[in-house]
Amino acid sequence: MAETIAVLSQKGGTGKTTAVRTLTDAFRRSGVRTLAIDLDPQGNLSDYFDLPPDVEPTVADVLAGRASIADAIHDDLVPANLTLAEAELMLGGKMGRELTLRRALVKAPDRYELILIDCPPSLGLLTVNALVAADHALITAEAQYFALQGVEQAIELVELARDGLNPELSLLGVLLNLADMRTIHSREALASLKDRFDEQVFDTTIRSSIAYAESAERARSILDYRPDLGADYLDLAGEVLERLPALSTAAPRLAQLR
Ligand SMILES: Nc1ncnc2c1ncn2[C@@H]1O[C@H](COP(=O)(O)OP(=O)(O)OP(=O)(O)O)[C@@H](O)[C@H]1O
Ligand SMILES: [Mg+2]
Repeated sequence: MAETIAVLSQKGGTGKTTAVRTLTDAFRRSGVRTLAIDLDPQGNLSDYFDLPPDVEPTVADVLAGRASIADAIHDDLVPANLTLAEAELMLGGKMGRELTLRRALVKAPDRYELILIDCPPSLGLLTVNALVAADHALITAEAQYFALQGVEQAIELVELARDGLNPELSLLGVLLNLADMRTIHSREALASLKDRFDEQVFDTTIRSSIAYAESAERARSILDYRPDLGADYLDLAGEVLERLPALSTAAPRLAQLR
C-alpha cells in the first residue's frame, strides 16, 4: 500500500499546490513512484502539470462513482476541474460521504509507493475526504501574522478526522511557506509556529520568490527553472523521507539531487 499524504490549509494561497507539484517532482526524481491527486475544483495542480483542461475522467468522476481511480490517472496524475464543485455538492447528500475517496483509493494501482493529495483552500468535505483517505497530513502556512490561527484550525480538523473516521492518520508536519527570513514578520511567524507545534514544524522553510509564479506559468518545475530555489523543496523532501521510514530507501538518490 502506498503512503498517502494530504496537503492542506484552511487559507488560500499558502503554496499547497506548488508543494504537491514540487514534492512530486522531487520524489519521482528520487525513484519513488508517486501519484498526484488534484482535489481542488480550481484544477491548479492539473494546470501546473500541463494536462489538457478537457482530459477525462477526472477525480470528480471517481467521487461520483462513474470512473475507477485507475481510469482517472493521466501521466501519474488524477486531474480536477470545475465539475468537482458539482461532485462535492452531490457527495454532500450521500451516506458515507466522508469515505468516498478512501474507498476509491483502496483500488489505486499497486505500483505507487506514494500518493500526494492537493486539497482546496477550505476545510470542507473535499478536504475531509482527503484526510480520511490519507495516512499523513502536511499543513502549509504562509509566513505572516495569522499563520498560527490557520494552522490551529487545520490541526483541529486533522484531529477530528483521526478521532472519527481515520485513527491511523498522523500529522506529518507543518511547513512555513512563502517566507522571507530577512523580514521580522517571517521570523516571528516561524517562531510562533515552533513555540506552539515544536518539532512538528519542518526545519526547512520555503523561500518566497516571484520565480514560483513564473515557473507555474511555464508549467516548469522550480527544480529545473530555478534549482537554487528548488533546493528548499529537496531539503523538505529529505525531511519528509525522515518521517516516512517506509520510503527511506529513496534517501540516497534524493541526496544525489541536492
Ligand atoms: N515560495 C513561493 N514564493 C512565492 N510565490 C509562491 C511560492 N510558492 C507558490 N507561490 C505562488 O503563490 C501562488 C499560490 O501558490 P499555490 O497555488 O501553490 O497555493 P495554494 O495554497 O495551492 O493556493 P489555493 O489555496 O488557491 O489552492 C501562486 O501564484 C504560486 O506560483
Ligand atoms: Mg492550490
